[in-house]
Amino acid sequence: MSLERLPATPVGRIGLGLAAVGRPAYINLGRAADLPAERTVHAMEARAHEVLDAAYAHGVRYFDVARSYGKAEQFLADWLRGHPEIRDVVIGSKWGYRYTADWHVDAKVHEVKEHSRAMFDRQLAETRGILGDRLDLYQVHSVTPQSPVLTDRALQEALAALAAEGVTVGVSTSGPEQPAALRAALEVTVAGVPLFSTVQATYNLLEPSAGAALAEAHAAGRTVIVKEALANGRLVHEAAKSPLGHLAARTGTAPDALALAAVLREPWADLVLSGAATRDQLDGNVSAPAALRTVEDTEGGAGFAGLSALAEPAPAYWRHRSGLPWA
Ligand SMILES: NC(=O)c1ccc[n+]([C@@H]2O[C@H](COP(=O)([O-])OP(=O)(O)OC[C@H]3O[C@@H](n4cnc5c(N)ncnc54)[C@H](OP(=O)(O)O)[C@@H]3O)[C@@H](O)[C@H]2O)c1
Repeated sequence: MSLERLPATPVGRIGLGLAAVGRPAYINLGRAADLPAERTVHAMEARAHEVLDAAYAHGVRYFDVARSYGKAEQFLADWLRGHPEIRDVVIGSKWGYRYTADWHVDAKVHEVKEHSRAMFDRQLAETRGILGDRLDLYQVHSVTPQSPVLTDRALQEALAALAAEGVTVGVSTSGPEQPAALRAALEVTVAGVPLFSTVQATYNLLEPSAGAALAEAHAAGRTVIVKEALANGRLVHEAAKSPLGHLAARTGTAPDALALAAVLREPWADLVLSGAATRDQLDGNVSAPAALRTVEDTEGGAGFAGLSALAEPAPAYWRHRSGLPWA
């Protein structure tokens, strides 16, 4: 199913990403409390299916995985196989990072990036071997301005060939230079046709620097997907003493829903990803559209305007993020 066919409902603008439940280790903050005591493959798959069931029941119809999220693609494929009646969902995956932790929480290196033709060919075959014809969107994982995908013609032509087969081709960006990476990606064409139809980028109350470039991507007809809207959990775990916590207390809403609502408020944000690791988190995250209405009804635009004080300089944000432990 293509992105254009996602339901035009408030919750239809929320997607679910499985980065936190596809593997035993990740950088989000509260994992020790939120994940199964034993992070066996079986336990993590059961958790992933629990969150997928809850998301689908709420009306979420976009699911985001990657080769590097451990067994996330397999968990999603098994869930789809267990629900043959479910045909109204859009499945997005990513290539460009290889999972290297072999299911060890204490691995030295959890993922290795390589944006080459060989990596693309290998990982596309792996993804297709697992998701088959359910793959709707394939994204280059974490593009920076230095990424070879922005200049390698042979790789770009291989991506264009995948698009010609009916799989939407996109990019995700990461790091303090996201705006430059996004603008460079928008310029890439093959036979005069823009190559990347979607962009996925980090945008949140602590790191809003990609906003203008994302608005340009949306205006240029690309689908904009926002990731890390909760700053890997920081916006929830640090909310108590922050303007976000104060607004939540004043309006009877919750910090996670408000942080997601602050992104949903952006007209260029086509999809905002939840990275929920539990059913309760998912239930809270999908209440973001209601939280948006509550704040706008009670405080107008002033409510959210007061949150702009949370923004950090992008280099500081990404330095902090790169210091978060894999746990
Ligand atoms: N380069 C890329 O392309 C890239 C990079 C990152 C993410 N993504 C995509 O974006 C998705 C979401 O990003 P993310 O998970 O990295 O970050 P995120 O959405 O900013 O943070 C999600 C985390 O916040 C915490 N959380 C969420 N709701 C909560 C609640 N109600 N109460 C308490 N804690 C709550 C949970 O972590 P704890 O339970 O651990 O506290 C959860 O895993 C990913 O799954 C992936 O699909 C893509």
